[in-house]
Amino acid sequence: MNVRMLDATDAQAYQALRLLALRESPAAFSSSHAEEAGRSLQQVAARITPAADGSCVLGRFEQDQLAGSLALRHPQRAKLRHGVELAGMYVAASFRRRDIGSELLQAAIVHARSLAGVRRIALGVNDTNAAAKALYRSAGFVSYGVEPQALQIDGRFHDVEHYVLPLQPIRVTRGDAQDFFRAR
Ligand SMILES: CC(C)(COP(=O)(O)OP(=O)(O)OC[C@H]1O[C@@H](n2cnc3c(N)ncnc32)[C@H](O)[C@@H]1OP(=O)(O)O)[C@@H](O)C(=O)NCCC(=O)NCCS
Repeated sequence: MNVRMLDATDAQAYQALRLLALRESPAAFSSSHAEEAGRSLQQVAARITPAADGSCVLGRFEQDQLAGSLALRHPQRAKLRHGVELAGMYVAASFRRRDIGSELLQAAIVHARSLAGVRRIALGVNDTNAAAKALYRSAGFVSYGVEPQALQIDGRFHDVEHYVLPLQPIRVTRGDAQDFFRAR
């Protein structure tokens, strides 16, 4: 199984991958390296433990090494819970262009479909990030606008392009999603 939901036992590997991501690609994320470095392993473990609402962090493994990850959040407020948000997509540089980003994205879509009532998946991308935009477009995400100056990093502003993937109201059960993860 190469893609699975991370749990508390993955905290150390996940934090190491996040720190690498934030050092290497600071403009791709809204978290900062200092914020992530300031988290204890217990805090990281709590953040990645799958929640009852379906929120989770997916990890893609290559020979037991965490090669990439993607976070999925499912808001529970009544007017928002028909959507999920993706964030923190990262594939370590030595594993890129081997479909790992695509597999993480497909796993997130399958998982989102398994959550009752979910009709859309949303995410934001730094407007200059051509690779990530191509990845999301290839999975069917459509852009609906650019938010000017959404991020400020070291005194410089960055625009963020917002994408959405509308989900057809077909049902995927939790069992189907578990089969999908087992098959990876
Ligand atoms: C963006 C990122 C996640 C892509 O991961 P990946 O595993 O290399 O992506 P995949 O191999 O699954 O590529 C899937 C598709 O995405 C597009 N893509 C990926 N990398 C690309 C690149 N460097 N340039 C152009 N298109 C690219 C292509 O359409 C590709 O399909 P193809 O290989 O058939 O051409 C990875 O480059 C990364 O982690 N970048 C740094 C962090 C980042 O930008 N995260 C996104 C935050 S929104």
